[in-house]
Amino acid sequence: MNFEQEILRRRTFAIIAHPDAGKTTLTEKLLLFGGAIQTAGAVKSNKIKKATTSDFMEIEKQRGISVSTSVMAFEYETYKVNILDTPGHEDFAEDTYRTLSAVDSVIMVIDCVKGVEPQTRKLLEVCRMRQTPVIVFINKLDREGQNPFDLLDEIEKELHIHVRPMTWPVGIGKRFKGVYDLSEGHFNVFQGDSKTTLEAILSFNNLQDPLLEQRLGIDDAAQLRHDVELINGVYNTFNPESYRKGHLSPVFFGSAVNNFGIKELLDCFVRIAPPPGPRTSTAGAILPLNKAFSGFIFKIHANLDPKHRDRIAFLRICSGMFERNTYYYHVRTAKQLRFSNPTAFMAQQKSVIDTAYPGDVIGLYDAGNFKIGDTLTEGETLQFEGIPHFSPELFRYVTNLDPMKTKQLQKGLEQLTDEGVAQLFSRKTDGRKIIGTVGALQFEVIQHRLKAEYNASVGFEPLNVFKALWFNGEKNDLETFMNDRAAHIAFDKEQRPVFLAESAWILQMAQEKFPKVNFYTKSEF
Ligand code: G4P
Repeated sequence: MNFEQEILRRRTFAIIAHPDAGKTTLTEKLLLFGGAIQTAGAVKSNKIKKATTSDFMEIEKQRGISVSTSVMAFEYETYKVNILDTPGHEDFAEDTYRTLSAVDSVIMVIDCVKGVEPQTRKLLEVCRMRQTPVIVFINKLDREGQNPFDLLDEIEKELHIHVRPMTWPVGIGKRFKGVYDLSEGHFNVFQGDSKTTLEAILSFNNLQDPLLEQRLGIDDAAQLRHDVELINGVYNTFNPESYRKGHLSPVFFGSAVNNFGIKELLDCFVRIAPPPGPRTSTAGAILPLNKAFSGFIFKIHANLDPKHRDRIAFLRICSGMFERNTYYYHVRTAKQLRFSNPTAFMAQQKSVIDTAYPGDVIGLYDAGNFKIGDTLTEGETLQFEGIPHFSPELFRYVTNLDPMKTKQLQKGLEQLTDEGVAQLFSRKTDGRKIIGTVGALQFEVIQHRLKAEYNASVGFEPLNVFKALWFNGEKNDLETFMNDRAAHIAFDKEQRPVFLAESAWILQMAQEKFPKVNFYTKSEF
């Protein structure tokens, strides 16, 4: 297989969902289809949904599991599928946003009972920033969920996307009979267990076929005909180009736990989902077909064993071929780095690889050189488009509880925030350090890891901040604003100023007083 064919057969994506919608279950079923695992239950849930803030063991377990499930690659037909895992716990949402910068498309799982949930909204917002193509999988059709038309309306309205159903359910919950494949014109009978056998697929010449009444009953047959007519009247036909541009989302219905509707999803996914495409950089768009290697780090994982300080940095390859034991240029530090044990992940198996292609994600052992967002090249000084930070939700002042360990604390804070565990700010007036996180769990993680890995003791003091806002505008306006609000200005790690607003009302007042300053809840605008 030549270089171009290797690229074209790759499908690198993430499954995103509000916790509990069925992401882990769907991942596992896809791996089963891909033959990457043999038994159900092999993929451990990386959730710590029941964890309280002091559940260290659970946190540690999550970190341990998520290394092995960070990338799950498998072969399906002629395709190489790379699933990038995203954490199940919403406190680690920032990790998910970063992972989304490394994929070419996503599958979004929605629970048909709950519909669109808060985390779904936020994740979709991130996808929209990069026009990432989205396939929607509506899950748990075996439960008493909402009417499918209502669900589609809700998705369109709440997530601001256009949808096009590819399959259509007959009945729901106890009355769920199966899904009709709108393009193939056949009906998959729901059996409520794990295998869709051949006998379970009914083929119709057309929807007027009397077999429909025989198998579905008069009422459901009539309902299906009516629904299909409505779908064809209301929704445009599916256009793969619109999907690839991120304008249109095909929708599938099924039940992941029952392995129902998954094969249709996977078969369509490998055909329509985009192979690795061009990536934006400071040197313009970088095409995967470029012979010169390039890639960026989107995730860093610390070693679980405190005696070994090395970390695994996850690299997404953007162009050219990566080769083991070759010197590559680390753009930020202008260093040449060589990797003797680059790791690939085939489902649960880790193995050292000699080569990897655009679209692949590999793990690089790192002694502290990497920061999230770093670029590696063959020598060019380009930098891939940044990975945005989003405003944290919780903020606390850092207090050093052991002045003898000040250096260790500083180093630990730098490294942990380079890994993306939390965001670090320093107050403009006095340089006081502030940690911002998405959830309360991270404060526990930081405290615990600083002690275990750096022997530093840290305490946190409450800080009343509603949002950290990045801002831009004319130089003079910015200076006036920053002087006026000096006590509430801090700098992020890249030395960009942020406004720490205490409440929505205070933000509004600032906006009114400084109309020429634009405020953003993310660092990329
Ligand atoms: P997540 O990764 O998105 O957080 O969700 P996960 O797959 O862990 O699924 C959450 C719960 O929903 C699990 O139940 C799972 O079995 C269930 N589930 C997934 N797909 C379906 C489906 O199609 N129908 C129904 N009825 N349930 C489904 P749990 O009780 O939390 O965990 P478990 O003990 O079953 O593993």
